[in-house]
Amino acid sequence: MTQSPTSIHDAVREHYAERIKNNASCCGSDNCCSTESDLYPADLLSTLPDGESSVSYGCGDPITLASLQPGQTVLDLGSGAGLDCFFAAKKVGETGQVIGVDMTPEMIERARSSAKRLNLQNVEFRQGYLEDLPVDSDTVDVIVSNCVINLSPDKSKVFAEAFRVLKPGGKLAVSDIVTDGPLPDVVKKSLSAWAGCVAGAVEAEEYIAMMEAVGFTNISITPVYFNKETIESAINEMKDVVELQSIPRDEVYKAVYSAKITAYKPG
Ligand SMILES: C[S@@+](CC[C@H](N)C(=O)[O-])C[C@H]1O[C@@H](n2cnc3c(N)ncnc32)[C@H](O)[C@@H]1O
Repeated sequence: MTQSPTSIHDAVREHYAERIKNNASCCGSDNCCSTESDLYPADLLSTLPDGESSVSYGCGDPITLASLQPGQTVLDLGSGAGLDCFFAAKKVGETGQVIGVDMTPEMIERARSSAKRLNLQNVEFRQGYLEDLPVDSDTVDVIVSNCVINLSPDKSKVFAEAFRVLKPGGKLAVSDIVTDGPLPDVVKKSLSAWAGCVAGAVEAEEYIAMMEAVGFTNISITPVYFNKETIESAINEMKDVVELQSIPRDEVYKAVYSAKITAYKPG
């Protein structure tokens, strides 16, 4: 049976509420789990006090990809505990503005309390869905997102909303999980694999087609393969959902990967 959009939202929200309540980092099945020093360069990490970059559920570094400039308005889709918003706030400075949107109340609460502790005045967090963004049209210079769009049951709607809120000429800079080839049905139907950033991932070509369909141009997608330990850990975590042990490892390493994606709203 295919999962309904509501059951996917509910399962994903419950999963991440649980992760943050337990102070757990990583997406869950450890499949997009990295420590912050794996994801971000030292000069970016050094913009936040020691210990403030430890809660990450991401799979890449959309902040470096975004090349943010002082004074810009930045929107983070699925801001989680707020880490990318905090890095962005440092980059855009006092004249810029950063908005994080997330559907999970526990994430919003954690992000708001961390922003207060860090004394960041140019960041705000709004509870809402990526498929119906609580953001005005044509108001955002750069959208970032880290390991989130794969979790949406309606990715076309997410891209349409991203396109709506970007200013003409605005940039989308995303780290996300995509696949090289279709996933087995048994994986796609598993809610726990969905919440762990695997089952919802689509093929890179489909991802690009969805962005083109809503109007994005100059789309670029660059694979960043996971290290072997991460893949082994994910295969092990998913053993009750799907048997992947028999698939040649090289195929698995290339089948599901983190990608750096950039795209623009025409000016
Ligand atoms: C894998 S975590 C990534 C969090 C953050 N970007 C980071 O790098 O740490 C996914 C986040 O996206 C949020 N999320 C997933 N699907 C969403 C949707 N459709 N609308 C709003 N938020 C969503 C979850 O609540 C969760 O906080």
